[in-house]
Order: sequence, then structure tokens, then C-alpha cells
Amino acid sequence: MTQKKRKIIVTGASSGIGLAVCDRLLTDGHEVIGLSRRGGQTGPRHPNFYPESINLADLDALPQHLDELRNKHNNISGIIFSAGSGAFGSLEEFSYSQIRELIELNFTSQAYITRAFLPDIKKQGFGNLIYIGSEAALSGGGRGAIYSASKFALRGFAQALRQECAKSGIRITLINPGMAKTPFFDDLEFSPGPDSDNYILADDVADAVLLALDSRKGTVLDEINLSPQKKVIQKNRPDKSGP
Ligand SMILES: NC(=O)c1ccc[n+]([C@@H]2O[C@H](COP(=O)([O-])OP(=O)(O)OC[C@H]3O[C@@H](n4cnc5c(N)ncnc54)[C@H](OP(=O)(O)O)[C@@H]3O)[C@@H](O)[C@H]2O)c1
Repeated sequence: MTQKKRKIIVTGASSGIGLAVCDRLLTDGHEVIGLSRRGGQTGPRHPNFYPESINLADLDALPQHLDELRNKHNNISGIIFSAGSGAFGSLEEFSYSQIRELIELNFTSQAYITRAFLPDIKKQGFGNLIYIGSEAALSGGGRGAIYSASKFALRGFAQALRQECAKSGIRITLINPGMAKTPFFDDLEFSPGPDSDNYILADDVADAVLLALDSRKGTVLDEINLSPQKKVIQKNRPDKSGP
């Protein structure tokens, strides 16, 4: 358990990994500001949970929204970046706007959020920035060119920023999950296999987040990679509304 109660932003708080992280932080007594498009419609019901509805893919509106958030919630000392989505296919199957949207959500919005809150966190002299990357941040695979590119960008960003922020007491961690059983796959053509060793759980990733947050002052967990024991991929049913 973290010693000191903190105010932490979690993006992607309405589902999957972000939701599991929120639950853990709230159990540990922290205050959590949860960002997602669904805001308070889903997610934890807890007096220390402050949901905010925001579309992180709308980059034109994002700086203004982030300014408003900064004014509303001060003393932020950690951000967990879990919002993101997956789109897979050969490059020619992507429209130009789909390419832009995936990169903007999975990478550029995270750089914007970091840019907005970094000065305040630096002033405090300590903080954690924890990015949820992917195994696709470590090596590219077929039908994942744009998704991989977005996660490689995030990894390079985190590595560079770690050096830049070391003297300010800010610890930067990248967590790279393999296939995790979450709604991430709901609209995809594939998902992890059915057996419990074919996937990791959102809670496993939350464990890694807490490990990075709670590590001894002066120690940085720079990257954590997690994967299922057995990599098994299954095709999803083409018509998921059917029986
Ligand atoms: N599941 C996996 O196998 C896996 C593996 C490696 C990496 N990851 C990464 O882990 C992160 C979390 O994924 P997950 O598995 O937890 O998926 P998930 O259950 O689908 O959750 C995605 C979260 O992102 C939010 N989000 C999506 N688009 C958004 C937007 N435009 N604006 C604001 N919020 C948005 C969603 O909230 P709203 O829909 O309410 O906006 C939701 O809370 C992602 O970055 C993903 O790339 C997942």
C-alpha cells in the first residue's frame, strides 16, 4: 500500500485496465480523477472518485479541456495513461483518417495530457507518470502497423521524458501488457484464447501500476512487460449480436 494519500488521474477509467487501476487506487485511499468519454456512466462508485467526460481523440478541443481540468483539480501527483484503442488490419485497409485517429488517441493525446500537467507536477518535486504501452511497443507484428507505431511512439516518448524529468523527481514507467482479457477486443476480429493461461487480467496490470507507484523513492521501474503464459489467439464470431 502506498504510504501517502495522493491525487491521481487515470485515463481510460471507464473500462478494462484503467478501471482496475482506479479500483485499486481507491481501495488504497487515494483520490482518483477518471477520464473517459463515458465519464460517470460506468466505473467506480466511490466518494473519492471524480469522473470527467472527455474525448481524448478530439485534439483541437483537448488543450482547453486540460486547462479546465488543471484549474479544477490541483496537486495531481500521478497520471496513469490507460485510454487507448486497437485497430488491426493490413495498411491498405486503413483510411487516412483512421490512421490519424489511432495515432492521435494512442499517442498524441497522451503527449498533450503530459504537457498540460507536467509543470504542476514538477513544482511539487515528485510524481509518477505511468503509460500503458503494449507488447506491440516492443516489436511490430503483421496487421498491426499503425497500432504498433502508436505504441512505439509512446515508448520513445517515455524513454526520452524519463531522462528529461529525472532531476525533477518524476518517475516515468511504461507497462507493456500482452493480451489482456478486457473489452478492448469487443470490436476486434480476434481475442485471446479461452484458457486462463491465454490472457492476463486487468488486475495483473493494475498490480504492475501499484508496484511502480509504491517503489522506494529514488528507484524507477522504467519498463514492465507482462504476457500470458501461452499465446493463443482465437477468431471472434463475425456476428457478435447472434447467439
Ligand atoms: N487488452 C489488451 O490486450 C491490451 C494489451 C496491450 C495494451 N493494451 C492497452 O491498454 C490500454 C487499455 O486498454 P483496455 O484493455 O483496458 O481496453 P478497454 O477496456 O477497451 O478500455 C479502453 C479505455 O479507453 C477509453 N477511451 C477510448 N477511446 C477514448 C477517447 N477517444 N477518449 C477518452 N477515452 C477513451 C475508454 O473509455 P470510453 O469508451 O468511455 O471513452 C476505456 O475506458 C490501451 O491503451 C490499450 O492499447 C491493452
